[in-house]
Amino acid sequence: MAFKGRDVISIRDFSKSEILQIISLAKELEKKPSPELMKGKIMASLFFEPSTRTRLSFSSAMERLGGKVLGFETKEFTSVSKGETLWDTIKMVSQYADVIVMRHSIEGAARLASEASSIPIINAGDGANQHPTQTILDMYTIEKELGKLEGLKIGFVGDLKYGRTVHSLCMAMSHFKPKMYFIAPEALKMPKPYLDDLSEKGIEYVEEADLMKFCGELDIMYMTRIQKERFPDPVEYNKLKGVYRIDKSITQKMKKGARILHPLPRIDEISIDVDDTENAAYFRQAANGVPVRQAILALVTGALK
Ligand code: NCD
Repeated sequence: MAFKGRDVISIRDFSKSEILQIISLAKELEKKPSPELMKGKIMASLFFEPSTRTRLSFSSAMERLGGKVLGFETKEFTSVSKGETLWDTIKMVSQYADVIVMRHSIEGAARLASEASSIPIINAGDGANQHPTQTILDMYTIEKELGKLEGLKIGFVGDLKYGRTVHSLCMAMSHFKPKMYFIAPEALKMPKPYLDDLSEKGIEYVEEADLMKFCGELDIMYMTRIQKERFPDPVEYNKLKGVYRIDKSITQKMKKGARILHPLPRIDEISIDVDDTENAAYFRQAANGVPVRQAILALVTGALK
């Protein structure tokens, strides 16, 4: 299917070959900057929830392609604070831009926006649900760091219940015959629908609470932040915060060549003494957001086929 005019709401909307196509285009854009590609196009950047990397790397991607950016980074100064609906906001904005990048705290908000919008909507995270562009940059990073996507042992660690990056990445990697390790305390386990999906596809997985048990087996350790803002009860968050912490001594138990990824921000789950180990890939991962988002913006606006 062509990309032009398409929304990017869930990673499930993209086939294996489409994901690989985006990755290969991102590689080309990284090698060969194209400062004129999006000239005359406008990206609306609508962040109803906090963001640093996602918002700035989307803006950087657009501007490095010669496009322009408008939008807001907090909903407080928009008409949403006067009571305007998401539907009306999107209806308006879709007349001011060529593509909308949107982050929202409510699951399904991006899908709703895509129904109101006449231009492509890119989901930059909807509640605890999905974060598809993060997933493609995570995969871009894995390919770049390890040279392949097929047949890897991937451990997801931390908040697997509320972590939208985990949900999207788990779905997308299931195309590549992985073995998955879901390492989380009981209260933050991977939601059952994702596990059922893996079982249906015949993907092998284990669930475990002890990080040390499998840490020597993993090719990729995908570390995550405990998603404080999603907890209905702060007492529950306080019980679980700090549950996992990787430091240099843990990296010494990892397989040679294994990589630690993290969508960031980190709180205390990766100690800074890990940053200069060969395992630490998370800052390079954050940089990869720019070419990957360039590829996505260029494809959905039809600037590239
Ligand atoms: C993640 C997110 O917003 O889901 N961050 C990001 O986009 N890089 C992960 C997180 O906030 O913990």
